[in-house]
Amino acid sequence: MRILVTGANGLVAGRLLPLLASKGHEVIGLGRGPQRAPGGTYLSMDLGDAQKLSSAVQELRPQVIINCAAMTDVDGCERDPLGAYTANVEGVATLARSARELGSHLLHVSTDYVFDGDAGPYDIDAIPNPRGTYAITKHAGEEAARALLPKGSWTIARTAVVYGWPSTGKNNFGSWLIDALSNGKNVKLFTDQWVSPTHASNAAEMLAELAERRLAGIWHTSGADVVDRVAFGRALCARFGFDSSLIQPSRMADVNLPSPRPAKSGLNVSRTSEALSAKPLSLEAALARLYAEYKGSTS
Ligand SMILES: NC(=O)c1ccc[n+]([C@@H]2O[C@H](COP(=O)([O-])OP(=O)(O)OC[C@H]3O[C@@H](n4cnc5c(N)ncnc54)[C@H](OP(=O)(O)O)[C@@H]3O)[C@@H](O)[C@H]2O)c1
Repeated sequence: MRILVTGANGLVAGRLLPLLASKGHEVIGLGRGPQRAPGGTYLSMDLGDAQKLSSAVQELRPQVIINCAAMTDVDGCERDPLGAYTANVEGVATLARSARELGSHLLHVSTDYVFDGDAGPYDIDAIPNPRGTYAITKHAGEEAARALLPKGSWTIARTAVVYGWPSTGKNNFGSWLIDALSNGKNVKLFTDQWVSPTHASNAAEMLAELAERRLAGIWHTSGADVVDRVAFGRALCARFGFDSSLIQPSRMADVNLPSPRPAKSGLNVSRTSEALSAKPLSLEAALARLYAEYKGSTS
């Protein structure tokens, strides 16, 4: 299949592009600025340039578009709502219009932040109630895909707290912890934020299967376990042999963050576990993979 993947320089697409290529698909990565992840056909484009983006998609005629691009800096979105709206809503709408014209399938990657985090973990049919600019724009992106494409031609795949080693340019939750803990530095982690941490390569595997099978509707593509951030940090210490006393528990409720975060979040992945061959990994299995990635890069 010919598959266009946006956000090519990002964490998830950086894993997804080589995976799809290894499965024999013709893949084109679309990223902003110069290509930073190695290999493959690459186009440089800003999702805000609707004309250029739709012309490129019309010319490429992908059977599936996987939209991994987004403005993901949660506090940055609060400071720059126009940038957030352009990337997280208008970009999706342009891709959805183009997919509609071509009769292609759009797989749009979204987030657990569409939920308020008052009563997680959330089922796929739970009612979103986004708080903060990142969350509101990501939810509006989901709605753009649903509104502009016929049922059966769109997939929304929500993921959460994605981590992997090595990082792609900027640190992720896992690579930041490894960097700090391996250097004996203390880290402050929240005890009152529950999440479904997701190993990046595992997310890529689930997304690849959704794309290949063009499975429509809403899917939760996160890790299988819901944990608070301290529990994640301690599990990582146990696997990596780091000193867990470097973890200093703190409370999100005591910190004045520019953008609100869901507190009791987490995604119910039972439908994904049942339907896909690429299963959401348990935290233990995911950390074993992270450790193998880390050891592979340091040995
Ligand atoms: N990472 C997480 O913890 C997490 C959690 C839940 C959901 N998600 C979702 O998962 C998807 C993939 O996230 P990720 O972790 O791979 O994020 P990422 O590493 O930040 O990658 C996103 C990519 O999108 C690109 N981008 C942003 N604005 C753009 C624009 N206007 N035009 C073109 N490209 C633009 C960025 O380009 P630059 O590199 O130039 O900035 C970046 O390479 C996103 O939809 C995100 O909302 C991620």
